[in-house]
Amino acid sequence: MKNIFRIALLPAIFTLINIPLLAAAPPPAYEGRRLYVSYCQLCHGTKGKGDGALAKAMKIHPTDISTTVRSRSDTILEKIITGEGQPTISGRDRHNVISESMPEWEDIFDKSQISALIAYLRFLTRAKHDLMGDPKLGLELYHKYCQVCHGEEGDGDGVMTKLLGIMPMDHTNPNETNSMSNAEIIESILDGKGRFMPSWRSTLSQADVEALVSYIRLLSQ
Ligand code: HEC
Ligand code: HEC
Repeated sequence: MKNIFRIALLPAIFTLINIPLLAAAPPPAYEGRRLYVSYCQLCHGTKGKGDGALAKAMKIHPTDISTTVRSRSDTILEKIITGEGQPTISGRDRHNVISESMPEWEDIFDKSQISALIAYLRFLTRAKHDLMGDPKLGLELYHKYCQVCHGEEGDGDGVMTKLLGIMPMDHTNPNETNSMSNAEIIESILDGKGRFMPSWRSTLSQADVEALVSYIRLLSQ
């Protein structure tokens, strides 16, 4: 009886152990956007221009981070966000002085969340096209229908690529995805492309396709 119990339990334990290994972490810019929407957008605005709902109430107008972060290193950005290094920054370099109107997030986020936020700030500085549609839905659909060819991480090396002898474009390369307008991406998805990119017109709704466009853009690294 004991043995049967043990054997029956094995697959369950296996599944438990395997879950974190199988589920790849979401792309950093995707995760960063999720945090940004909840914690930063209120002041910094949807695109980082400093026009969030709370911006008018701040003593110092939030900076247009979509341009300023370009010249800042990851280390400085990490210090600005955590607030941990603010006195040191101001002592060393006046250019990096950040006022107290920018909250300190040291106790709120762990290291990987800070990296994700920085990835999204960098995404905002180079984004050429608006995000459209819900990226969370996009992530689900991409995993369900697209990763077999485009790869779990979007870099174009899905399991089907070898079988079919195809090389889809690297969706994690911002130069490649930035070169396509939203309308062009939508058209490729709805009508298909070349011999092996299928048309998804009968499977996906307009909202599904727009969600995928957002997700493809947030794969950018
Ligand atoms: C309550 C409003 C508020 C919130 C919420 C907020 N900030 Fe700020 N932030 C500011 C203000 C104001 C400044 C400008 C401070 C200055 O120039 O002295 C700033 C500056 C910054 C800067 C420096 C910009 C630069 O390069 O000069 C970064 C980076 C930044 N914020 C990131 C974030 C992130 C990431 C979040 C979310 C986790 C966030 N902020 C949330 C108000 C806010
Ligand atoms: C059977 C394999 C396969 C599947 C499944 C597939 N694609 Fe593709 N996809 C391709 C190939 C191959 C190309 C390149 C076509 C060409 O340029 O000739 C491509 C091209 C594209 C393009 C045009 C830009 C580019 O990357 O070249 C987009 C956008 C795209 N796919 C999105 C998707 C989305 C979203 C899904 C899921 C809903 C999906 N694909 C599913 C194989 C696939």
